[in-house]
Amino acid sequence: MLRVGYPAVFATELLSDFPREVELVRLPDDLDHDVDIDVWIPIPYPTRALKIWPHLRGVRLVLNLMAGTEWIPAAVGPHVTICNARGAHNIPTAEWTISAILSMLKYFPLFLDVQRSGQWKRRFEASANYAHITGDTKVIFPPVMLEELYGKTVLLVGHGAIGQQIEQMLAPFHVNLLRVARTARAEPLVYAVSELDSLLPQAEIVVLILPHTAESHHLIGSHQFALMRQGTLLVNAARGAIVDTDALVQALDSGHIRAALDVTDPEPLPEGHPLWSCPNLLLTPHVAGSSPQFAARSLATAAAELRLYLTGEPMQNIVQHSI
Ligand SMILES: NC(=O)c1ccc[n+]([C@@H]2O[C@H](COP(=O)([O-])OP(=O)(O)OC[C@H]3O[C@@H](n4cnc5c(N)ncnc54)[C@H](OP(=O)(O)O)[C@@H]3O)[C@@H](O)[C@H]2O)c1
Repeated sequence: MLRVGYPAVFATELLSDFPREVELVRLPDDLDHDVDIDVWIPIPYPTRALKIWPHLRGVRLVLNLMAGTEWIPAAVGPHVTICNARGAHNIPTAEWTISAILSMLKYFPLFLDVQRSGQWKRRFEASANYAHITGDTKVIFPPVMLEELYGKTVLLVGHGAIGQQIEQMLAPFHVNLLRVARTARAEPLVYAVSELDSLLPQAEIVVLILPHTAESHHLIGSHQFALMRQGTLLVNAARGAIVDTDALVQALDSGHIRAALDVTDPEPLPEGHPLWSCPNLLLTPHVAGSSPQFAARSLATAAAELRLYLTGEPMQNIVQHSI
């Protein structure tokens, strides 16, 4: 019987979807002896999962509960098949992206400061902020306090599962969408990443939603920031190292761009890091994919892959084939 190791923190009712033909093996965080399993579902925290890995014997397949699998190949080696949980994060990560864009355009971080200071008059700081970040200094009456998403040009870098979900959620806002992926295609029009530099000056909002790989490492650096329009909003829901952090700090400190980040490089962001005090920045600590529905959804994805594995049909979410 196929033995499937899963994180002991998950309640057994979450595993009710798993095929009856497998034996489920609980793997506690403090596992202190060797265990034979065929399939490993790692706890979705790499440092905790890496403590368990040395005790596992016979693993042939890893079913990851996250979309990102960066840490796994180096840990398990090339003789193990690795699947991700493509799709399980689509809704919460897309919702975070829309929330982050609207929060920044509606100056919510500033208004939270205003609320905490208890000074109604400080709301006019939003007008000053708008003029400063957009470079739009003409006198507008009534004073501009908030911006609209409606009609803005949004550049989506990455048009996979989450990118497409973001596109759907952006539809009611009637934005002009520019899409970039690894490879170009039509219907809908997606540009190849080689076109990125020529597209950046057209965008008012740039959303990063692609994996961190050798090719995407520092895809956004000082050259790309220089190509962005004054006041461009950079939204990174993907991985911190897709952006060159030093260049990002400089672009924010100079007032050239603004940003909403769920991910940083390094991560966790250490106390005292310059990013913490950058202006025009909304930062959340890598939580975009999280919601009460996440565990059930990602375990259902793993169960579906396992059913395919058992019947010998091709699995849907392979990111590494074993050699
Ligand atoms: N913040 C969070 O909590 C959170 C949660 C979930 C996911 N994520 C991150 O979001 C990423 C995307 O997730 P997903 O499920 O949408 O992945 P996906 O379905 O695999 O789609 C990835 C997209 O990125 C594109 N891409 C890959 N390499 C590229 C490159 N070098 N330049 C330009 N585009 C590139 C792909 O292009 P092609 O279509 O041409 O292959 C594809 O469109 C994940 O890898 C993960 O790092 C973050």
